[in-house]
Amino acid sequence: MIGVPRMGAGRCFLRLAPRSRFSVQGVVELMSGTRIVVNEEAHLEIGDGTYLHCGVTVSCFEHIAIGPDCAISWNTTILDGNGHVLIVEGKGRPWSKPVIIDEHVWIGSGATVLSGVTIHEGAVVGAGSLVTRDVPCRTTVAGNPARILGEDAEWVKDREVCLDSPLKVDRPTGHSDQPPPFPKPGPPDVAR
Ligand SMILES: CC(C)(COP(=O)(O)OP(=O)(O)OC[C@H]1O[C@@H](n2cnc3c(N)ncnc32)[C@H](O)[C@@H]1OP(=O)(O)O)[C@@H](O)C(=O)NCCC(=O)NCCS
Repeated sequence: MIGVPRMGAGRCFLRLAPRSRFSVQGVVELMSGTRIVVNEEAHLEIGDGTYLHCGVTVSCFEHIAIGPDCAISWNTTILDGNGHVLIVEGKGRPWSKPVIIDEHVWIGSGATVLSGVTIHEGAVVGAGSLVTRDVPCRTTVAGNPARILGEDAEWVKDREVCLDSPLKVDRPTGHSDQPPPFPKPGPPDVAR
């Protein structure tokens, strides 16, 4: 499904260069404003049940594989190459290195995933993170560069499923179908 309007309208941009491949399994949602470029002879794969939220950019120079059941949040950028030739101290740096995003990975809004990274199954990437290294299975990472915040993480896409599941997330007290009262602000939690 291309151009699903979740957070307003916005055209999707899809450019498939000659001899490139874009493989999709099952149902994949590319929401409004998604931009995808697959360069010559590159291969982009996306698995069943994964969505790319509004404004996600994917720039594929070689091979990007995004597994099934992933949530790629708005304004995230995923790229597997530099896009320009880089020579440092007389040596050429790699033009591209594949990116693998395994099954059931959640990437928070505005994150950037750089070339050569593998994000393993069940991992969570915090909003605005810059991912430069592999992320282990079921680990939360965040920051620039992204560092491990916690291990043995579990996440589910749908909050209602979560509230009724054995995952035992905190349920707001007095939960009902009505929204909770607006909380009174406490003392500020200031960084020192
Ligand atoms: C990464 C995330 C999931 C972690 O949640 P959490 O486990 O509840 O983490 P906490 O809020 O307890 O934060 C733990 C520490 O990590 C830091 N941190 C949390 N998220 C961060 C982020 N995105 N970037 C940098 N640091 C972050 C906190 O400041 C805190 O640091 P401290 O211990 O020095 O105070 C969450 O902060 C996040 O970024 N969610 C993304 C939400 C999003 O983009 N949703 C889009 C809709 S799909």
